[in-house]
Amino acid sequence: MRKYRGHAKLVLKPGSTKEVSKILKYCNDNMLAVVPQGGNSGLVGGSVPVFDEIVINMSRMNNIRFFDEVSGTLVADAGCILEVTDHYLAERGYIFPLDLGAKGSCHIGGNVATNAGGLRLLRYGSLHGSVLGIEAVLPDGTIVDDLSKLRKNNTGYDLKQLFIGAEGTIGIITGISILCPQRSKAVNVAYFGLESFEKVQAAFREAKSQLSEILSAFELMDSGSQDFVAAVTKNKRPLEGEHPFYCLIETSGSNSEHDNEKLEKFLESVMEKDIVSDGVVAQDETQVRSLWAWREGVSECSGHWGGVYKYDVSIPLQDMYKLVEETRARMDAAGLMGSGSSHPVVGVIGYGHMGDANIHLNVAVRRYDKVVEKELEPFVYEWIKERNGSISAEHGLGLAKKNYIGYSRSEAMIGLMKQIKRLYDPVSPPSFSLGFEG
Ligand code: MLT
Ligand code: ZN
Repeated sequence: MRKYRGHAKLVLKPGSTKEVSKILKYCNDNMLAVVPQGGNSGLVGGSVPVFDEIVINMSRMNNIRFFDEVSGTLVADAGCILEVTDHYLAERGYIFPLDLGAKGSCHIGGNVATNAGGLRLLRYGSLHGSVLGIEAVLPDGTIVDDLSKLRKNNTGYDLKQLFIGAEGTIGIITGISILCPQRSKAVNVAYFGLESFEKVQAAFREAKSQLSEILSAFELMDSGSQDFVAAVTKNKRPLEGEHPFYCLIETSGSNSEHDNEKLEKFLESVMEKDIVSDGVVAQDETQVRSLWAWREGVSECSGHWGGVYKYDVSIPLQDMYKLVEETRARMDAAGLMGSGSSHPVVGVIGYGHMGDANIHLNVAVRRYDKVVEKELEPFVYEWIKERNGSISAEHGLGLAKKNYIGYSRSEAMIGLMKQIKRLYDPVSPPSFSLGFEG
């Protein structure tokens, strides 16, 4: 993000849960601040030391501990890289129930700690559903061993849920147990262009009804986001003409021919109904990957010009794109957007997980600039609050959104969170007591 910097002098790389426990106990006893760090791919500054914290990096804890080929239960160290873990599962006919652009570097422990959403939440649901258990170390060094392999365990509070999405504020996750689904034998991908956001919504409805059980992703990209990918990668665009919106649909099933036929039929029908203007279906694995690159590449490409203000928003679907349009109009009206270097804003784009009503509003800039910030905030947060949305649908609070939690949570809820934090981390100083610094 090129946004957060600190003064850490020490990075510790524990090799076992016991070592994490010893480190935390020592730091707790001596009032030393720590910041847990996974693959460092978060977008809200949560894993960056911004004071003089000791970094606890989990990369050495990267072993698969157990896998059951009948149930699909995986138990692994927190520092396993998502893609490496997924390759391990692929060899056994299974898939990790989470996928995201940063898979090559993010850690599964970090994914759980931040409750990452990603590209296939539509199919596999949230980690709150697929994680079966966790092993974590509390701030005082206590090891919480709840690496359950059970799908059902209705005995009191489900405490592991508190660690999922807590961003390391109540403890460091050192291991996870997760239920992995069978890997689909047939994966098909289509990419298409549409003329309005109303048509995107109509296409989503049609996809749910026509593709139903085989639909595994429905992603949205606006023209600006695809222009960014084209400008940075110089790759040939998948479609000839230009369109205001693009969608990527993925199907996953057990019969390639049947799924392909269904997808082709769907595309024919939405084109006949004038919902979709143009589209292409991937013909092989290489094309599947290259179509996905037009979606997965947006995040990295939008930071190409120097910086990017990121808003990860959840609001009711029909209003979702209005936020992008209104933000763009605001930047234009303030004279901040243009091609010259005196204009800090390169572009305002929207893309994201249509299937989860989650859009990423990105304001790409040549440099971070207070004038741009003043135009964006609190405007964006107030806009979201008015619609009862969430200011962070999947990226978490970290440092970037910590002070704005009140736009999405009531005082009573924040009060409860503070109490929980204090219960797990009683010696933390009051200014850290909400502490989503993790
Ligand atoms: C994505 O959906 O691409 C990720 O959440 C990353 C991002 O928003 O940039
Ligand atoms: Zn996302």
